[in-house]
Amino acid sequence: MKTVIVVLLLSLCQLVSSITRATCSLPGAMQGKCQCQGNIVKCEDLDYIATQTGGSAFLRLEVRNSNLSINASSFNSWGLTEILLENCQLTDSSFPPGDFHGLENSLRLLSLKDNELTRLPKFLSKFTNIETLDVSGNPIPHYNFNEDILRDIGDSLLSFSFGTKIGGTELSQWPLTLKHLVKLQEIILTAADITIMPTNSFHGFEGTLLRLTLANTKLRSVPLAISRLRYLQDLHFDHNQNVGDYGVRIPLIKGFLPFLNQMSLKDDNITTFPEVLQSFDRLDQLNMDENNLKFVSDKSAKAVTQITSLSLQHSGITRIPGAIQDITYLNILDLSNNSIHAIETNDLKESAELLTLKLNNNPILYISDKAFVNQTKLRRLELKGIAIKRVPCALEAMIRRHQPGYVIVDLSNNKIECNCGLKWLFDVKNDRHTRTRFRIVGNCDTVDKTIQDYLDSDLATCPNGINCTDS
Ligand SMILES: *[C@@H]1O[C@H](CO)[C@@H](O)[C@H](O)[C@H]1NC(C)=O
Ligand SMILES: *[C@@H]1O[C@H](CO)[C@@H](O)[C@H](O)[C@H]1NC(C)=O
Ligand SMILES: *[C@@H]1O[C@H](CO)[C@@H](O)[C@H](O)[C@H]1NC(C)=O
Ligand SMILES: *[C@@H]1O[C@H](CO)[C@@H](O)[C@H](O)[C@H]1NC(C)=O
Ligand SMILES: *[C@@H]1O[C@H](CO)[C@@H](O)[C@H](O)[C@H]1NC(C)=O
Ligand SMILES: *[C@@H]1O[C@H](CO)[C@@H](O)[C@H](O)[C@H]1NC(C)=O
Repeated sequence: MKTVIVVLLLSLCQLVSSITRATCSLPGAMQGKCQCQGNIVKCEDLDYIATQTGGSAFLRLEVRNSNLSINASSFNSWGLTEILLENCQLTDSSFPPGDFHGLENSLRLLSLKDNELTRLPKFLSKFTNIETLDVSGNPIPHYNFNEDILRDIGDSLLSFSFGTKIGGTELSQWPLTLKHLVKLQEIILTAADITIMPTNSFHGFEGTLLRLTLANTKLRSVPLAISRLRYLQDLHFDHNQNVGDYGVRIPLIKGFLPFLNQMSLKDDNITTFPEVLQSFDRLDQLNMDENNLKFVSDKSAKAVTQITSLSLQHSGITRIPGAIQDITYLNILDLSNNSIHAIETNDLKESAELLTLKLNNNPILYISDKAFVNQTKLRRLELKGIAIKRVPCALEAMIRRHQPGYVIVDLSNNKIECNCGLKWLFDVKNDRHTRTRFRIVGNCDTVDKTIQDYLDSDLATCPNGINCTDS
């Protein structure tokens, strides 16, 4: 009975999807270059957007990687709420008067990312309900962020992205006209040749902004202007290579940014945990990938003892920093893409609250059998691409001591030899004292099977009593 229903449901689904595919009709000139999925149309290598004569109603149009012409009738009858025209070779003169006709009140999102605009287009003023605008990747200098246009969209705009292409020199000062965006919750600066930001940079939305990204700038320090963002929750200050340790030594009094929860300081040429981080009581997630933390001192974690999630990928780390053990409630730790050679018995001894541990792409030669004994709450352990041939014996002690639950161990991209030497894994799995269930992800190198399949179907017939460390 069940199967019949399932089969019926499946064929019904197929029928519905074939009907929707059939009704997803586009103007002739756009067929072949566009695909529809539900109420979304995606196009590549498109020449022009034609009046929607096809009759279908779409909400979102995405055009990418095209040399696009737009004329006054382009958006007729489309009724869209979201338009993305990205990397379409659009210039200031690509938009004739009268374009976007019919979308004045419906458009919520517009992305003109990665084009050749040198000013904010005038037509933006007519969108009365626009919430998200992305003009990043365009060479717009600060004096071309037109005040009248920003005032017009300021009543509705919640998210604004801007900036040049990476390495571009056209935007050399912060556009102070952004002060008209009085409802802004998110601002994303993708790239700019800016070295200094005035303290009043965020004037106009200091009391509304929740998320801020400042990336690929020439800034030499974290701008003090940020301290005025009373409700800021997420701060991404990435790829600002002139910053360094000195640039994060900002004099902040405890209590500033009381809501700051997530922070990333990726690729900022930093060598240690910045002391200023201890001012942020609610800081929870910290990402410091792509810095040079080779010599991160054991004392430096005092600044971040409040966090629960830490990512230190690609940071030149050669051993698990002792500092990490001072972070009492660390749940998520990502040390992937470093140069860690060994995981010693004591390296993670105190990190008993870990739920996720990632050590992918490290040249690990040695893992102590007791390396993970205190990780009794772990739900996910990733050891991908660490050039091991054997399932680490450290898993035995970890699984035996583990709390009741479910743990996934990912050993993908290794050359695991599946043979009777793995009998211990079978024994652990089937031991009545083992309280947790577990699943191993990854393939055997020696047989055409996943490690889990080998464990489930082959190991039972192997001789008993193989000692992990001896095998
Ligand atoms: C893009 O199209 C215009 C005409 O619409 C043409 O003049 C220009 O050369 C094209 N650019 C490229 C890179 O193909
Ligand atoms: C817009 O361009 C298309 C294709 O070039 C053309 O068929 C159409 O007549 C043009 N519409 C207007 C109003 O210029
Ligand atoms: C990074 O910081 C070091 C000092 O720690 C400095 O010598 C170096 O020039 C900085 N690199 C860049 C790209 O600014
Ligand atoms: C980490 O290494 C993998 C594999 O080499 C690579 O695909 C990934 O982009 C790297 N990530 C970082 C943050 O370096
Ligand atoms: C970690 O395990 C050791 C025994 O290997 C034990 O003495 C210690 O108390 C444990 N630490 C925590 C934080 O659970
Ligand atoms: C496995 O080897 C270790 C060290 O040689 C030994 O202490 C342990 O008792 C052995 N376990 C079994 C089941 O043989």
